[in-house]
Amino acid sequence: MPPEVYTSRAFLELEKQSIFSREWQCLGRASALAKPGDYLTADINGQPVVVLRTAEGALRAMSNVCLHRMSVLLKGRGNARVIVCPYHAWSYTLEGELRGAPLMSNQPGFCKESYKLPQVRCEVWQGWVYVTLDPDAGPMAERMADLEALIGPYEMGNYVETFYEEHVWDTNWKILAENFMESYHLPALHRATVGPHSKLDEMECPPGHENFNYHWITKEASLPIGNAHPSNKRLQGHWRQTTALLAIYPTHLITLTPGYFWYLSLQPQGVDRVHIRFGGGLAPEFFSDPQAHDYMARLKKLLDDVNAEDRRGVEAVFRGVQAPLARPGQLSPLERPNYDFARYIAQRASAFVGMNAPC
Ligand code: FES
Ligand SMILES: [Fe+2]
Repeated sequence: MPPEVYTSRAFLELEKQSIFSREWQCLGRASALAKPGDYLTADINGQPVVVLRTAEGALRAMSNVCLHRMSVLLKGRGNARVIVCPYHAWSYTLEGELRGAPLMSNQPGFCKESYKLPQVRCEVWQGWVYVTLDPDAGPMAERMADLEALIGPYEMGNYVETFYEEHVWDTNWKILAENFMESYHLPALHRATVGPHSKLDEMECPPGHENFNYHWITKEASLPIGNAHPSNKRLQGHWRQTTALLAIYPTHLITLTPGYFWYLSLQPQGVDRVHIRFGGGLAPEFFSDPQAHDYMARLKKLLDDVNAEDRRGVEAVFRGVQAPLARPGQLSPLERPNYDFARYIAQRASAFVGMNAPC
């Protein structure tokens, strides 16, 4: 894509209006919110959001902004029986209803019952929590029907998260997303880690779909948890050694192997910074196998090293795209998913420009 797509504040504004205020965005695994009161917070396009497990066991997402003088309510992740505003202690139930407001009963005209935190749409698809600010966005299951048909036998919904972290890198969000979408960079950028084991001729990059792209790596994994567990009867033939690299637009990037998974979910913080949710875990057969947790610890160490290399790579690209003489070249066949992603960005941005164009 042209360098300005990564550096222009005006283009980021267009993305906010056409992508981040409309699309479903992943905030992690539903299993991370197992008990009533478990919550996570996020900033979706400038809107603080809390997702929590209610007393009845439902997942609910709502505005994380107090209805008094608009302080942000909860931070990070945790468990709360009630939501108490840190500013003047107005408190809310897990349903978002105002429960208490100090001294306000003396205030004429104050009606506690008329206050409720605005609700935000939230869906769980394959174990992932997605939220959107768009009341009209189609259901995730419908948007992901083609992907579900491709990866159904993995039964990703049953994979169990074993680690979760958040980071901020100095690059444009799309540079990091594009880095994930291609394995062309593995031999060079990752020459000190996974590069020497990567065979580019084992990668397949089929055309992308409307809401996602993907590529496959078919090979025996060096770590046992990269292949299907002997008791995994869901995956047959070459699928038992196949890793799927999924890019669910706009910002959810998943490495799905027969035995483990890891993911990134991105949120821009300006053109030059990206907030990253980074987690992963094991397929259920490996989760109940104690030795697999040792393998997972080794894998996590390797992922940390690989991510440090990717960070250097994508931060260097961001410095490069700002140069006056920067121009993009042709993509390789292994960057087919990047082409599909560029078309997605162009389509969303231009549809929005078209819709709002002056008559
Ligand atoms: S801003 Fe929340 S109680 Fe005042
Ligand atoms: Fe990489």
